[in-house]
Amino acid sequence: MLILDVLSPLLLLSILLPSYGCRAADIPEDATSEFSVRLYHQLQAAGDQDNIIFSPLSVAMALGMVELGARGASLEEIRQVVGFSHLLPGVEFSLLQNLTAALSDDDSHYVIRFANSLFLQEGVTFNPEFLHLVRKYFQADVETVDFSESAAVAEQINNWVENHTESKIRELLSAEDFTSATRLTLVNAVYFRGSWKNQFRPENTRTFSFSRDDGSEVQTLMMYQQGDFYYGEFSDGSQEAGGVYQVLEMPYEGEDMSMMIVLPRQEVPLASLEPIIKAPLLEEWANNVKRQKVEVYLPRFKVEQKIDLKSILQDLGIKHVFTSNADLSAMTDGKDLYIEKAVQKSYLEVTEEGAEGAVGSGMIALTRTLVLYPQVMADHPFFFVIRNRRTGSILFMGRVMTPEAPETTESAADE
Ligand SMILES: *[C@@H]1O[C@H](CO)[C@@H](O)[C@H](O)[C@H]1NC(C)=O
Ligand SMILES: *[C@@H]1O[C@H](CO)[C@@H](O)[C@H](O)[C@H]1NC(C)=O
Repeated sequence: MLILDVLSPLLLLSILLPSYGCRAADIPEDATSEFSVRLYHQLQAAGDQDNIIFSPLSVAMALGMVELGARGASLEEIRQVVGFSHLLPGVEFSLLQNLTAALSDDDSHYVIRFANSLFLQEGVTFNPEFLHLVRKYFQADVETVDFSESAAVAEQINNWVENHTESKIRELLSAEDFTSATRLTLVNAVYFRGSWKNQFRPENTRTFSFSRDDGSEVQTLMMYQQGDFYYGEFSDGSQEAGGVYQVLEMPYEGEDMSMMIVLPRQEVPLASLEPIIKAPLLEEWANNVKRQKVEVYLPRFKVEQKIDLKSILQDLGIKHVFTSNADLSAMTDGKDLYIEKAVQKSYLEVTEEGAEGAVGSGMIALTRTLVLYPQVMADHPFFFVIRNRRTGSILFMGRVMTPEAPETTESAADE
């Protein structure tokens, strides 16, 4: 059922990086959500991409793995930026482990797989305690490779990533990403697949115009349903009607995971709403949406993005581990070990329920004259978050400025 497919492999080349995540009930709610939101704003400011998708949880886990090998300023900088500095040293690992555990669903309502792996240079000796802890907290695989055989290594790692993302992410790395000086590559992949609790009926999907913020229009396949969701209307604080926006929370089967969609009014560009997005606001939305009947129009879409985490993290203040002064002495006795490259790639597909459906033709006939319930019409850019409703962990965050249709034949595949 690929109603939704998300994956995010995070790769860190050359020395590690990895992921971290979210927050649990016993950590102040904003500890890592603040970091997540800052990552979003940084990506938005970088401005090289229309749509945005990334996994804050993955980044947090990646950084947690780096932390296990770091000491001194390299360690403190990460704790500070991610939001762990108020915790006793080391508590974040147990926290990350618990957050990850909270995402496993014994009843198989959805699938989330965190696949972490360290690829080490043959002949380099890593601290056994470090390797032990990486396995303990992050269930990471450790393999040795010869980075001087760059083409073979790229292929090996790419196969690994493909295998852990149901082939959604391919060709993540190339031979040019490695040199004979590479000592350690950390690869982190997250795969998520869930079905909506209330699925869309494919026969209700129609071709529809989506208005981009620059005024141009693109044709999309618009899904439709009327159902019970969590919904609320909020104001950005301004007095104008344009200051009101809608928040819709749509749970996946099992109700632990949900997608929250934040939609400004039609005439208001998403860019004017983005600056107000802050960690406490995410909480406010989650706490104030109310269950009620809503008419939902949502495009089928897929979003994917490969992020240079190194530059983004440096901008947020994590610099030390990327320099030749890095202290990764808990990882190996050798000096000059530092993170040379860190990459994350995420992919998200949102469809009716996964199965390929008959797509209706023609436009949706809007019954605006008879609106009985609030109507959420996502025919213009929106912001979204996929989170765990129990722990607040943010698995994915992003925005859709131009919905690209997923390939319908592929989305018919299912388990
Ligand atoms: C993680 O869970 C274990 C077992 O429930 C608990 O003892 C520990 O305190 C938790 N750690 C954190 C940081 O919440
Ligand atoms: C990927 O999966 C295939 C089929 O299960 C297996 O043959 C191959 O060895 C796997 N590759 C890696 C790198 O794990």
